[in-house]
Amino acid sequence: MPSVKTALVAGASSGLGRAVAEALAADGNTVYAGARSFARGKQPPAGCRALALDVTDASTIQAAVSRILGEQGRLDVLVCCAATFTMSPLEELPPETLADMMQVNLIGAARCVQAVLPVMRAQGRGHIVLFSSLNGLFSIPFQGAYSATKHAIEAYAEALSQETRRFGIRVTVVEPGDCSGGSQQYRLTHIAQDSPYAEAFRAGTQKIHHDESHGLPPVRVGKAVARAVGKKHPPARLVVASLEQRSGAWLHKFLPRKLFNRVIESYYR
Ligand SMILES: NC(=O)c1ccc[n+]([C@@H]2O[C@H](COP(=O)([O-])OP(=O)(O)OC[C@H]3O[C@@H](n4cnc5c(N)ncnc54)[C@H](OP(=O)(O)O)[C@@H]3O)[C@@H](O)[C@H]2O)c1
Repeated sequence: MPSVKTALVAGASSGLGRAVAEALAADGNTVYAGARSFARGKQPPAGCRALALDVTDASTIQAAVSRILGEQGRLDVLVCCAATFTMSPLEELPPETLADMMQVNLIGAARCVQAVLPVMRAQGRGHIVLFSSLNGLFSIPFQGAYSATKHAIEAYAEALSQETRRFGIRVTVVEPGDCSGGSQQYRLTHIAQDSPYAEAFRAGTQKIHHDESHGLPPVRVGKAVARAVGKKHPPARLVVASLEQRSGAWLHKFLPRKLFNRVIESYYR
């Protein structure tokens, strides 16, 4: 892998994707930042070239890859950050909303991966970085649908790594804890009128918003991903989270599930 790389970051207009794109560019890499809002005039991250890219539209992904190959002749790194997020009691979540989240968070990433794999195989090298979350390891109330998409990314990344290592392709799954700086535009809620979950939903979502707004600065994740991209042997998993949030993953691993569920339930009460 060359020390200066050509990278595509999908979902780079906001939050962690933007921070990753800026950190990769600051390290001297050639970075293409992809998102829908660049088509509407949003400024690209510092040092990056903007690409109008919608992960639900294969033609925009293909056009992005073609442009990068036309301009740089290679594509070394794909980072998939694009995601949407609707908090809701699972009983009331419209199936269409769950499908929309899967379309962006899982299938969108899969579309990007399928577009870059032929290029990376032909090069005999490449690095694919997929954004999961600590919620890819355990679930919390009212984020069940989002957690399901991130658990799916974990499973997808594991098999992807097993299938593509023989072609010189490395896969890293990133598991951030709560981070500040994500746009409220992508944090939607759905709750029925007179919902029996209303009180629990209010308390739970308040806690979620509080933890996010007091979370790690996005630059921490950006720099951690850029360091991983710079490595000869990148890690298969990259957890970027406070000690307190990491402890959620340890408790999930070691506590009996009934006890873990009670601990989480009381934390979000
Ligand atoms: N923030 C956190 O606390 C946290 C914690 C753990 C994991 N994560 C993960 O980190 C990633 C970034 O999250 P964030 O909260 O920092 O970012 P965010 O502010 O929520 O931004 C979401 C990004 O996804 C893009 N996006 C949404 N739909 C898209 C589509 N159809 N095609 C292309 N791009 C699309 C948006 O760009 P456009 O609207 O311009 O297209 C935007 O750049 C996500 O995968 C998230 O699940 C975040």
